[in-house]
Amino acid sequence: MPQKQRKQGNERVQLLWGGRFKKPLAEEALRFSSSFSVDKRLWKQDILGSIAHAVMLGEIGIISASEAKALVKGLFALMRDIEAGKVELEGPDEDIHSFVERKLREYVGEVAGKLHTARSRNDQVVTDFRLWCRDAVKQLAEAILKVQQALVEQAEQHIDTLLPGMTHLQHAQPVRLAHHLLAHFWALQRNLERLKDLLPRLNTSPLGAAALAGSGLPIDPELTARLLGFEKTAQNSMDAVSDRDFACELVFICALTMVHLSRLAEEIVLWSTPEFGFVTLDDAWCTGSSIMPQKRNPDIAELVRGKAALVIGALTQLLTLLKGLPLTYNRDLQEDKGIVFNAVDTTLACLSAMSQLVATATFNADRMRQALARDFSTATDLADYLVRKGVPFREAHRIVGQLVLHLSELGKGLEDATLDDLRLFSDKFDGDALAVLQPEQSVERRKELAGTAKSSVVKQLHRAKAEMKRTVMWLQKFPTISPNLFSHALT
Ligand code: ARG
Repeated sequence: MPQKQRKQGNERVQLLWGGRFKKPLAEEALRFSSSFSVDKRLWKQDILGSIAHAVMLGEIGIISASEAKALVKGLFALMRDIEAGKVELEGPDEDIHSFVERKLREYVGEVAGKLHTARSRNDQVVTDFRLWCRDAVKQLAEAILKVQQALVEQAEQHIDTLLPGMTHLQHAQPVRLAHHLLAHFWALQRNLERLKDLLPRLNTSPLGAAALAGSGLPIDPELTARLLGFEKTAQNSMDAVSDRDFACELVFICALTMVHLSRLAEEIVLWSTPEFGFVTLDDAWCTGSSIMPQKRNPDIAELVRGKAALVIGALTQLLTLLKGLPLTYNRDLQEDKGIVFNAVDTTLACLSAMSQLVATATFNADRMRQALARDFSTATDLADYLVRKGVPFREAHRIVGQLVLHLSELGKGLEDATLDDLRLFSDKFDGDALAVLQPEQSVERRKELAGTAKSSVVKQLHRAKAEMKRTVMWLQKFPTISPNLFSHALT
């Protein structure tokens, strides 16, 4: 008996599951439940996953070789036509999977109905999603690398630029600007390492799990996994369709990257104020005011700082979406994609903006050096001097503290002090004490544990560049769709 299609409000929609219903789905219910406007972005992943699936069905003999060929050729043609803009991603479809199957029928006719053999949208959607996230990992890594590159290039220009390093936003000790910029490099580097670490967990194929229990037909999940460039197949069909950990981890990495970018952005905002004057942003990367003609505002950096909130919110959205969901697939899971798309889009946009903002910024070495004047940031060096003369550190700290109080009451800085001034507080001070007050000496003395000495910073720059090379090599070996998928399709 021919299967009766469920009548639709809109006759163009053929729901994939109409058979057991007497009445059509309410148009509003379809609109409410459709994810097509969001998951249409998965069109390519959906088609590639379907090609791999069709190839596998043909290899195993679940469908005939000629049927498999027809499906694969039709899917390729659809992919090309979407790419060329001949087919628009539009329609009343429930989701991208329904769209692809409906369109495929226009290319290959009734054999399109064989594509979904031994597959459910539950394993299909998570296959598509993993492929999309895999691509996102690559794009994020490339974008982080660009920010790192900008930081390293600026650092190379500013090995000898000194500025006050801060704690509590108060002048603490002098540092090299290169050292400061590289601190941001290493934070970003950890995000790259997180992406590298995530890849094997992300790059696992759920295809073959079908609805939840696996397929009753003799499928070959290893083959589809290989064709799609997955490293391995899932261990448990129920976990395969329920697991969204990979998405959580990806959004977490986005959120943390945004936190790192927002800290850099905050410094840019602060440093570009006239009070600091440490950085001048390029005209192309700052904005004016509609009323105050003189203004140059660091809006781009402020927006990066602001958008961090959205991505942190996305992580909360996703974790909250998943909490309490019973196994296995639940329709709630449909909401996962919009969250991840937003988080990744925002993070990529911010990385791109920040890399250019940093690359084109001018750091004002003179202003930074001036900020060290009378700021007492070499007081610790003077205490260390006394320690070298045998004074217990606590005592040395008290002596220098009293000296700082004395000088600041006179409106003087440490650099204005004479040997007589020093000797008022301790007779351990000799003529060589005044030299330790120079910021240039202060940074040079810190050679241990990745400190501010020139040799140390230069070594650090070399290590940073070596890390960037390693990332480039990792990107070159990044998993992709197997060329076999295409040769299958073309022969
Ligand atoms: N649009 C759905 C999603 O994104 C596809 C899976 C639908 N599966 C189902 N059993 N209704 O999650």
